[in-house]
Amino acid sequence: MEVIRIEGGHPITGEVTVEGAKNSALKLMAATILAPGVTTLTNVPNISDVHVMGKVLKKLGATIKVADEHTLVIDTSQVDRWETPYNLVAQMRASTAVLGPLIGRFGKATVAMPGGCNIGDRKIDMHILGLEALGVRFDMEHGDICATVPDGLIGTSVTLEFASVGATENLMMAAVRANGTTTIDNAAREPEIVDLANMLNEMGAKVHGAGTPVINIEGVSELHPVTHEVVGDRIEAGTFIAMAGICGGPVTVKGFEPDHLGLVLKKYEMMGLTIERGNRQVTVSRTQPLRPVDIQTLPFPGFPTDMQAQTMCALSLAEGSCIVTENVFENRFMFASELSRMGGHVVIEGHHAIVHGVDGFSGATVKAPDLRGGAALVMAGLVADGVTTVYDIGHIDRGYERFVEKLQGLGAHVERVDVPKIG
Ligand code: UD1
Repeated sequence: MEVIRIEGGHPITGEVTVEGAKNSALKLMAATILAPGVTTLTNVPNISDVHVMGKVLKKLGATIKVADEHTLVIDTSQVDRWETPYNLVAQMRASTAVLGPLIGRFGKATVAMPGGCNIGDRKIDMHILGLEALGVRFDMEHGDICATVPDGLIGTSVTLEFASVGATENLMMAAVRANGTTTIDNAAREPEIVDLANMLNEMGAKVHGAGTPVINIEGVSELHPVTHEVVGDRIEAGTFIAMAGICGGPVTVKGFEPDHLGLVLKKYEMMGLTIERGNRQVTVSRTQPLRPVDIQTLPFPGFPTDMQAQTMCALSLAEGSCIVTENVFENRFMFASELSRMGGHVVIEGHHAIVHGVDGFSGATVKAPDLRGGAALVMAGLVADGVTTVYDIGHIDRGYERFVEKLQGLGAHVERVDVPKIG
């Protein structure tokens, strides 16, 4: 099995370019179902979650050609099945993103009910309630959710209880084919939602207001395939920014819109980083000690939960204490206990974490608890005393392409190593 081994204490400097956003690419891939024919997606990250979504589409009857490392040519003209089995949903919860497009195109879908995952229960009740309002009937059978649309999809008004990214996306992808207009109130506003709306509109849909809390969707009778470029990955960018922040930099991070990290950049500046914003890039450096800053995660434009672990890692090295509040997912503090093996001092109280700054980390053997927590452990290893070995790196490969190679390009002493399984 492979692990990531990091020798701490080496500076990182130079330039790194991020890939297309995982969270956008997965939904755009699902959306190709809505437009029978050949859709080309460019700037697709070569990561394992994208490979799983590829399997989901193939299972439905699509063919996928990898035109080059970051370009997928997806032919959905022969899609003739509508079932997504548990083994795929269990590998990746975002497989449920095919629910809306299958309902939109075929008026039926069978998707395995996702179970819990290591960052919490992650229910899909809001997806279901919203789709029911559009006329979808759901039956639970043998662990699967079976959707049918007995009287066609009818546009309506839906108010989401929470600005859920996945629910907003599934509703948008069904509503584009509904009869009449659908309004989604309290919609998620993430840049990935805007990217999906842009692609749907290029396909001939009429989606207005994406990026605001109210999205209006006028249903159309058909959608056509397009070529679309995936938006840059703001979270991959944020991860490298956080790394540059603890190491000192300067590091230039390219390939994303700095506006998509508005509050993150602001908070990192409050922590003492110097950040120069440019055209689809930022340059990060730090010459003063890290300062403690409270953060709370919230839906966009709030502080992203996907930057919580990396930021907790940085705050652990600040001069003083602060509070990190997780409002989006239950149980997303597992990173803190792994970090304690490296000398971190974080006290968890419900959905608050009290982060006490320490003088430094000491290299240790740790396990990636999830995708972002895994990246944050590698980050801690960059400045730790001695060697850090991160196990369970499959989590990291889900969302970061050539993570080790990119860090090596910045001068980090990091490598993937084959080791015997522990335990
Ligand atoms: C997406 C992102 C994930 C990011 C999250 C929040 C993808 C593949 N994943 O996840 O990286 O951290 O947005 O920015 O795009 N909830 C319910 N019922 C529902 C739907 C959600 O209770 O029907 C809860 C979830 O359990 C969670 C919260 O709402 O506590 C937010 O979930 P949501 O915004 O839907 O996140 P995802 O789309 O799963």
